[in-house]
Order: sequence, then structure tokens, then C-alpha cells
Amino acid sequence: MKRVISVVGARPNFMKVAPIDRAFKKYSDTVEHLIIHTGQHYGAKMSDAFFQELEMPKPAVFLGISSGSHAEQTARIMVEFEKALLEVKPDLVIVVGDVNSTIACALTAVKLHIPVAHVEAGLRSNDRSMPEEINRLATDAICDFCFVTEESGMKFLKTQGFPEDKTYFVGNTMIDSQHFALQKADRSNILQETEIEKGKYVLVTLHRPSNVDEPEQLKSILKVVGELSEKRDVIFPIHPRTRKNIDSFGLNELLKNVKFIEPQGYLDFLALMKNADFVLTDSGGIQEETTALQIPCITVRKTTERPVTVEVGTNILIEPTPEAMKTAIDDMLTKPRKQGQTPPLWDGRAAERITEIIVTQILHY
Ligand code: UD1
Repeated sequence: MKRVISVVGARPNFMKVAPIDRAFKKYSDTVEHLIIHTGQHYGAKMSDAFFQELEMPKPAVFLGISSGSHAEQTARIMVEFEKALLEVKPDLVIVVGDVNSTIACALTAVKLHIPVAHVEAGLRSNDRSMPEEINRLATDAICDFCFVTEESGMKFLKTQGFPEDKTYFVGNTMIDSQHFALQKADRSNILQETEIEKGKYVLVTLHRPSNVDEPEQLKSILKVVGELSEKRDVIFPIHPRTRKNIDSFGLNELLKNVKFIEPQGYLDFLALMKNADFVLTDSGGIQEETTALQIPCITVRKTTERPVTVEVGTNILIEPTPEAMKTAIDDMLTKPRKQGQTPPLWDGRAAERITEIIVTQILHY
């Protein structure tokens, strides 16, 4: 019997690991799959709801790390994860995405000579001011196997000389979760609860440090969101980082028509995306989720590490300036919309491919 650990830490990790856990069930005679939760995100809204709604088993180990500076958070995760690894002794560690938990756990495992697979490898924004970009660069540089969601990642890893026989183009496990949950999301009451109508509202999410941590930048973006809310219903599930900054910079007045709600669980948020007129965001994952749903998305960021969402999907990337935002919103309200297609292999079966490769080619059953 071999043992595989998948690490989850922050909100965007849960939907990437849930399908992997499910797909490993087919191999339960030979592989024991365990989830370790670092606790980077915690509590009912940011963490627990996702386990229930994605039908994930409780984590085998919870490291209870919570918030802190990047160095503190990363270091505390490493210290606690090392203890867990010494106890569990896995044959492989899977890390997903680009959050602090991803690099912290990858680094801890390779130092103990435990092989590491990175799911969602090879993505690059080429913007080193993003903490996630540093996490991606560092994780890909030290991991043993790369599972890749889109062609740009394959190309990039090739240019870096990452061994081609250890790089696998498998599709997107985040989209596996979307397929799994789409029907259930239709039973969500979130539209009624928030008094908005299908197809008639704009869904907004903002949490990137580059957009929300600096008062003038946050103010200029929120001003445009406030103006949009004069024309359309705007619903804004608000990330703790953004909530804190709006309050401390005294910006609530700009948003008096905006419907703020708490961070949402997976199913309610999926219902909000699926039924939106369009989405305005600075998230990484939402660019992919809206592309798969074929819902128009304006991404307020200088760069994207997920270019397929712009090249093939419904995503439009714009500079995070009020002028660019106003033009993009105006176009969205008055002109024909960009039509998108589903990127290759985003078919709901990425986790099946990943687990088959792990079992047959990495663990050699
Ligand atoms: C993290 C990820 C980011 C991801 C985002 C999704 C890194 C570097 N960043 O950013 O890639 O898009 O999660 O949400 O890993 N907080 C709470 N409750 C929580 C978690 C955080 O209140 O459950 C508050 C804390 O005050 C904390 C702040 O939010 O200081 C930021 O949390 P942190 O995990 O440091 O980064 P995120 O901005 O959430």
C-alpha cells in the first residue's frame, strides 16, 4: 500500500483537490490518499463550507496555521508540515496552485526526499510583485512532477528544461469540481436571498494586494464599481483582506448601492457566477471558472498567468486603471460580447488523468 498526501491551505485549493480525492477511490486497494489542511484559510466561510459542499473527507491532519506575514505563515507551515510528514511517511506529496501553503509544503517535502507533484504547474504572469508568482516559480523549480492545465504551461516548462517525461498536460481539476457541482448549484437560493435577478446583475470580486492594499488604488477602482452600481445591480462577496481595507481607508461611502455579502461557499458562488450578466474580478481562478461557464469576465490586472482564458475563453484583461475599467464596462453594456470556447481538456476528467498517471507511472503499480 502506498500513501499519497494532498495539501490544501487556502480557499482556491479546496476545489482543486476534491476531484483528486474522489478519483483516488478507484485505487483504494493500492493507494491511501490523505488530505492535510495547513489552516492558511480557516472558519466556516473561507474553509469548512468547501469541504461539505465538495463532499471532501475531513483532513487527516489540520495544522492550524492561520494568518501572518508571508515569512511567518510560510515558516510556520513548514515547521508543522515537517512533523506531519515524519509521522505519515507518504510516498508522494501533491501540492496545488500558487498559495503560500503550496511552496511551504513542496519545500518541506523535497528536503525530506519525498517526491512532490505540482498540480497547475507552469503558469506564469511574469509579474514578480505578485506573491503567487514567486510561489509558482519556486514550486516548479523544486518539484518532481508537473501536471499542467493549459498549453502555455507546457511551453513554459519546456523552455525551462523541466524533464518532458515528467510533465503532463492533464486539464484543470478546478473545472472537474465545477462539473461535479453545477446541478447542485442550481438549487442555491442565493439570488432570492440577495434579491437579484438571473442575467441582470454584475458579480464583483477584488482581493489582489496590488488592487486593495494601497488606499488610492482601491479608491479609484471602487469609484468605478460605485458608478456601475447606479446602472446595474452589483453584488460583491467580500474577501476579508478587502473588507478590512475598505473600512480602514474609510471607503464605504463610495459603495452605498453595492450589495455586499460575506465570502460565499462553493455552490452559492457558482450560482452567482453562472447567472451573472458579467463578472468583474482580479482573481486567478475566476478567470477559468467563467471561461468554462462561458460567462463574460473583465479581469482588472496588468497580467494573467492563465492566457488561455483570454485567447480561447470569455476573459478580457484590462489595466487596473479607472479609464480602462470604464471603457471595458461600457463596451460590455453596449456592444456585442466576446464569445468563448472551452480550452482543451477542461472536460471534467483532469483528476482521473492525474491519478492514473500517479498510480501507473509514478508509483509504478
Ligand atoms: C490567499 C492567496 C491568494 C488567493 C487567496 C484566495 C497567498 C500568497 N495568497 O490570499 O493567492 O487568491 O488566498 O482567497 O497564499 N483572513 C481571514 N480569514 C481567513 C483567511 C484570511 O480573515 O480564513 C484575513 C487575514 O486577516 C489575513 C488576510 O485575510 O491577514 C489575508 O489572508 P492570506 O491568507 O494571507 O492571503 P489572501 O489575501 O487570502
